[in-house]
Parts: sequence; C-alpha cells; structure tokens
Amino acid sequence: MKNAVSFLALALAFTVLTAFTFSSNHNYIGSKQCKACHSNAKMGGISYKTWEKGVHANAMESLKTPEADKIAKGKAITDKGCLSCHQTSAKDNGVGCESCHGAGSAYKTKHAKDLAGAKALGLETPKVADGSAEKQCKTCHNEKSPTYKGFDMKKDWPKVAHPKS
Ligand code: HEC
Ligand code: HEC
Ligand code: HEC
Ligand code: HEC
Repeated sequence: MKNAVSFLALALAFTVLTAFTFSSNHNYIGSKQCKACHSNAKMGGISYKTWEKGVHANAMESLKTPEADKIAKGKAITDKGCLSCHQTSAKDNGVGCESCHGAGSAYKTKHAKDLAGAKALGLETPKVADGSAEKQCKTCHNEKSPTYKGFDMKKDWPKVAHPKS
C-alpha cells in the first residue's frame, strides 16, 4: 500500500514536471501558419476561410478608433491590458486560432496525423456541447472588457462558428 502511494506520488510529480517542461516549448506562430491546410477542403477543412471573415480576425482594428483612444486615454494599440484580449500575439491582427486552440509551434505539423497525441503538444479542442468552449470565451467576454455587452453562448457561438466544411 505504502509503495503504491509513493509510486502514485512519483508518477504525479513526473506528469507535472513533463507538462511544465513541454509547455515552455509551446510558442505562438500566428494564424497564417494554419492557413494552407485549414483553407483546403481536402486537408484540414475550410475553417480558416470563415474565421478570416469573422469578428475575431481583425480585433486589433477596434483599438485604432477614436472610441478606443478615448477609453485608453491614448494609444490603445500599445496598452498591454487592451492587447491581452484583442491580440493573440504580435503575429496576429486580432483573436487568432491559437487563442482557443493553444500555441501551435509543437503541434503544427504533428496533429495532422495524430490528433489524440497532439493534446500533449499543446493542441486544445474546446467543445460547445460540454461547456468547455463557453468557459474559454468568458476569459475575454467578461466585465473586464470596457465595452462589455454581455455574453450569450447560444447567440454568440453561431456568429464565430467555423466548421470544417
Ligand atoms: C500540415 C497541415 C496542417 C497545419 C499546418 C495545421 N493543421 Fe490543423 N489539422 C490538419 C488536419 C489534416 C486535421 C485533421 C482534420 C480532420 O480530422 O478532419 C487538423 C485538425 C485540426 C483541428 C481539429 C481537431 C479536432 O478535434 O477535430 C484543430 C482545432 C486544428 N487542426 C487547429 C490548427 C491550428 C490552430 C493550426 C495552426 C497553428 C493548424 N491546425 C495547422 C492539418 C493541419
Ligand atoms: C482572446 C480573447 C477572446 C476569446 C477567447 C473570445 N473572444 Fe470573442 N471577441 C474578442 C474581442 C476582442 C472581440 C471584439 C472584436 C472587435 O469588434 O474588434 C470579440 C468579439 C466577439 C463577437 C462579436 C461581438 C459584438 O458585440 O460585436 C462575438 C459574437 C464573439 N466574440 C464570440 C465569441 C465566442 C462564442 C467565443 C468562444 C468560443 C469567443 N468570442 C472567445 C475576444 C475574444
Ligand atoms: C474564439 C475561439 C476560437 C478561435 C479563434 C478559433 N477556434 Fe476553432 N474551434 C473553437 C471551438 C469552440 C470549436 C469546437 C466547436 C464544437 O464544439 O463543435 C472549434 C472547432 C474547430 C475545428 C473543428 C471543426 C469541425 O467541423 O469539427 C477546426 C478544424 C478548428 N476549430 C480550427 C481553427 C482554426 C484553423 C482557427 C483559426 C483560423 C480557429 N479554429 C479559430 C474555437 C475557436
Ligand atoms: C477582458 C478582455 C478585454 C479587454 C481587457 C479589452 N477588451 Fe475591448 N473588447 C473585448 C470584447 C469581448 C469586445 C466585444 C464587445 C464586448 O465587450 O462584449 C471588445 C470590443 C471593443 C471595442 C469595440 C466596441 C464595440 O462597440 O463593438 C473597442 C473600441 C474596444 N474593445 C476597446 C478596448 C480598449 C481601448 C481596451 C483597453 C483599455 C480594451 N478594449 C480592452 C474584450 C476586451
């Protein structure tokens, strides 16, 4: 019994350590890196094309308006607080794929052949049906947004859905 407990403790420590080590290798690469495969019906599907035309892709543009400068009392596009929700990384002009699917450097090519294995490489697959997607939406859609209008998954998800076909 005692051995089983210490084995479990060791296994847990190992899991935490490897998760920590690998996560530090997950870097943001930008949505353009997802474009070739995810604009192609015969590869990863056409999700990119829908996202590209949607409200998230160019969320940085909202920080360049007089309204934004009024809220931020100056340059919103350099305000770390504003950027934390309006831009995934400097490689995106808004809320990119990686804000919801995880930083892509490690899973970029590998997940195309092994989706299950890609979770350990940082691929996140939030789902609408089990509530995990809504939880993620609310990390940005909340009262910390100076223009918060409320959030309703039933109405808001269809506006940003991006099926494979
Ligand atoms: C080399 C081509 C390629 C690249 C580059 C690529 N993907 Fe994929 N992706 C695929 C293929 C193939 C699938 C599997 C599609 C299927 O099963 O229908 C897939 C599946 C996915 C899925 C669906 C997972 C699921 O549960 O069904 C997500 C999310 C995803 N990719 C995100 C991304 C993101 C984000 C990027 C950029 C960081 C990216 N992909 C770059 C080829 C690619
Ligand atoms: C990384 C932060 C972030 C995440 C995560 C996020 N959003 Fe957004 N969303 C934004 C920002 C920023 C805008 C404003 C874009 C603009 O107008 O420039 C926005 C705008 C929207 C809009 C348009 C709202 C309007 O009033 O015009 C909808 C709909 C939306 N998001 C749905 C969702 C859903 C559904 C999810 C979860 C699946 C989600 N968002 C996750 C940051 C995020
Ligand atoms: C605001 C968050 C968000 C962003 C941004 C986002 N996704 Fe998704 N994506 C989701 C969620 C949530 C689902 C799962 C929907 C469900 O439960 O059916 C999903 C599903 C997918 C799927 C599976 C679709 C299917 O029909 O099974 C692919 C592929 C995908 N996303 C790729 C991408 C790519 C590529 C980008 C960038 C071009 C991107 N996503 C941007 C949240 C996002
Ligand atoms: C917690 C995440 C978050 C932060 C921080 C944030 N925003 Fe936003 N922003 C959003 C979301 C989500 C939307 C979509 C509308 C909403 O708030 O529901 C949005 C929309 C906007 C819009 C468009 C308003 C409209 O009428 O559609 C402007 C302008 C804006 N934000 C400016 C800013 C500025 C300036 C800052 C920094 C002072 C900032 N935001 C910080 C999440 C955020």
